[in-house]
Amino acid sequence: MGGIMYIVLLCCLSTMWVVQGEDPYLFFTWDVTYGTLSPLGVPEQVILINGQFPGPNINSTSNNNVVVNVFNNLDEPLLFHWNGIQQRKNSWQDGVPGTTCPILPGTNFTYKFQVKDQIGSYFYYPSIGMQRASGGFGGLRVNSRLLIPVPYPDPEDDYTVLIGDWYTKSHSALSKFLDSGRSLGRPEGVLLNGKSAKGDGKDEPLFTMKPGKTYKYRICNVGLKNSLNFRIQDHPMKLVEMEGSHVVQNTYDSLDLHVGQCFSVLVVADKEPKDYYMVASTRFTKTILTGKGIMRYANGKGPASPEIPEAPVGWAWSLNQFRSFRWNLTASAARPNPQGSYHYGQINITRTIKLINTVSRGSDKLRYAFNGVSHIDTETPLKLAEYFEMADKVFKYNIISDSPSHDVGNTLIIQPNVLNITFRTFVEIIFENPEKSIQSFHLDGYSFFLVAIEPGTWSPEKRKNYNLLDAVSRHTVQVFPKSWAAIMLTFDNAGMWNVRSELAENRYLGQQLYISVQSPERSLRDEYNIPEGDACLLCGAVKGLPKKKLYSGF
Ligand SMILES: *[C@@H]1O[C@H](CO)[C@@H](O)[C@H](O)[C@H]1NC(C)=O
Ligand SMILES: *[C@@H]1O[C@H](CO)[C@@H](O)[C@H](O)[C@H]1NC(C)=O
Ligand SMILES: *[C@@H]1O[C@H](CO)[C@@H](O)[C@H](O)[C@H]1NC(C)=O
Ligand SMILES: *[C@@H]1O[C@H](CO)[C@@H](O)[C@H](O)[C@H]1NC(C)=O
Ligand SMILES: *[C@@H]1O[C@H](CO)[C@@H](O)[C@H](O)[C@H]1NC(C)=O
Repeated sequence: MGGIMYIVLLCCLSTMWVVQGEDPYLFFTWDVTYGTLSPLGVPEQVILINGQFPGPNINSTSNNNVVVNVFNNLDEPLLFHWNGIQQRKNSWQDGVPGTTCPILPGTNFTYKFQVKDQIGSYFYYPSIGMQRASGGFGGLRVNSRLLIPVPYPDPEDDYTVLIGDWYTKSHSALSKFLDSGRSLGRPEGVLLNGKSAKGDGKDEPLFTMKPGKTYKYRICNVGLKNSLNFRIQDHPMKLVEMEGSHVVQNTYDSLDLHVGQCFSVLVVADKEPKDYYMVASTRFTKTILTGKGIMRYANGKGPASPEIPEAPVGWAWSLNQFRSFRWNLTASAARPNPQGSYHYGQINITRTIKLINTVSRGSDKLRYAFNGVSHIDTETPLKLAEYFEMADKVFKYNIISDSPSHDVGNTLIIQPNVLNITFRTFVEIIFENPEKSIQSFHLDGYSFFLVAIEPGTWSPEKRKNYNLLDAVSRHTVQVFPKSWAAIMLTFDNAGMWNVRSELAENRYLGQQLYISVQSPERSLRDEYNIPEGDACLLCGAVKGLPKKKLYSGF
């Protein structure tokens, strides 16, 4: 297998996939297995893709069709989620337990999706339980089509840096821990692309740069719990892209990446040719854990200085850094029109949904929730139950209120949590975090305008502080302790979409929900029919049922 990738045109493949036009196909074959590695010096079980940890990079271009044939050689069910890939009309391929049946051990399944009308730096990961704690993640990039100008010169090379906190216990040990009602506790270290430099002079470089050249680094926080500060000795970083948007190009000495977020930066190799450390260290923790990796100059002489640049302290710094992020209104989008041609600040809000971060208190088992409802996955994926018109047998819609009271956490219930949002409406979502620790929330299927993050609690008057001009369009939002954040978006992508805490413990213990967006017209213009045959597995209550084509026309 060996991660071989090849490109063919649709002419040769019309029977395979009929929906999309003449965009190129990228094919991948993945063999997913367990392995033993010692990223922190202790041998442990990891999840490998084609023998690699992290998994192979997917390098695509806007509108490419990506086909990934996954062989599950683990002894447990598996699903891959393509974090930040919008899956237009196609939540079938989103790869989370509410949309897709798992790939059973010893079987294979083929994901087919188009990276439509988006660019940027993303990552994929196994979405069941705590599997991401053992690996199985990798970078996923979507390059701009040649026709669409990029607001910076082509870099000499383009590198992916997956940073994350790391536990030496396996994902199954961690999930047993959580099942017993306890919290995860502290991770043991921080990894950069699955490694942590020891600083003994024998570390292999993660990346090599030629003197004088400019490189692009795509940095994603793929960890479980901790916000990380990322920096490179002596090398400032020019921020150019964030979760699919070109941003105003400011230069930073260090960047805070909250769990699930991705940034692209440009780095110029204009310093003394030798080794330098890239550093990722935990933020807002009593004990700071630090991971390092070597960045080497080609033909450079000399080791990296052991002096590590210091990280900022406190979350006010991070909030200020967030406030410096701006959408570049004149940069082109994945379509030729500029990013700012969509005036989100002038659209009337049709609905405001407040989601309060709630935690069980006083009960014997730890659970996390939105508005007092702690989600539990169902054996029948919610999307399939809805499509087969048997939702009422599997879940109830709209069990949480749009405007919960602040004591909503006192009575926590465990139930599948599905919100119904009217197709094409413009909605404001407020995330409120009354807790003492930072949060990171993600929405599938969309990118949203992150118009404000502020301390305190939200009220309608706070809207006057929103950035209604050049907020960055993105998919993951951090919410600082005892703070709130507001996002706005048009729900124009029909499907079933997961909203979740990116913190693995919170997500695993119920802090997620699904948003069902249905097009009343039942038109193929708005959503694809369920994929035929083994291109979409059936399980639970829909197992063995004939697949109907609910949508027609084009
Ligand atoms: C990624 O794809 C782009 C365009 O499809 C290509 O120019 C580039 O060389 C590729 N990069 C890698 C590392 O394969
Ligand atoms: C499983 O892999 C085989 C061999 O590559 C392929 O022909 C088949 O379509 C795959 N099955 C699924 C369900 O993807
Ligand atoms: C925004 O994008 C435009 C168009 O590509 C580019 O010329 C400009 O330099 C960018 N502005 C900033 C501040 O990054
Ligand atoms: C928004 O609402 C205002 C007041 O209700 C109305 O006058 C205006 O036309 C609306 N704007 C749009 C774009 O619908
Ligand atoms: C959900 O919304 C759609 C329209 O957007 C509507 O047809 C459907 O009846 C709603 N379902 C529930 C259970 O509220």
